[in-house]
Amino acid sequence: MKVALVGMPGGGKSSVGRGLARQLGLGFADSDSLIEQRIGGTIRQFFDEHGEDAFRSLEQQAITDLLTQPGDAVIATGGGAVLRPSNRAALRAGATVVYLHSSPEELFRRLRHDTQRPLLQVADPLRKLRELYAQRDPAYRQCAHFVLETGRPSVASLVNMVAMQL
Ligand code: S3P
Repeated sequence: MKVALVGMPGGGKSSVGRGLARQLGLGFADSDSLIEQRIGGTIRQFFDEHGEDAFRSLEQQAITDLLTQPGDAVIATGGGAVLRPSNRAALRAGATVVYLHSSPEELFRRLRHDTQRPLLQVADPLRKLRELYAQRDPAYRQCAHFVLETGRPSVASLVNMVAMQL
């Protein structure tokens, strides 16, 4: 079994993914970490030097590789992984996909001091999060087998909630 977590930046994909993998006794992989290993640097630097499109191509390759690796695993994806229709199709076909949903306001509360996410290094990050959310929420829903609200519960209870749905 492969489980993929999708959703906006700051929605808890990595922390819930790690906890879920531990609870289910599965491996854990994070597409952003795999990309950083491959480029030998940070995503932020890569965005600055090569732009978003080049990053999306690396992301597509990372997701394909993680989905086709043998064995069971929990995969945390980057927030923009659902933008390419081919990624949505590959994720849905190759894994049980869980959308960790949060409102843009909640995401802003968690990310307002973030310095690593290139798309949020703007004058008005809340506005940016609202724009990204409006653009992406339908794509996350299209890709996901089920949606989990991440507003209040702790990471541990989110892990239990995901595990119960599998
Ligand atoms: C991005 C989200 C990031 C990372 C990159 C682009 C996005 O991942 O892939 O900065 O487009 O929302 P997280 O969702 O893990 O922050």
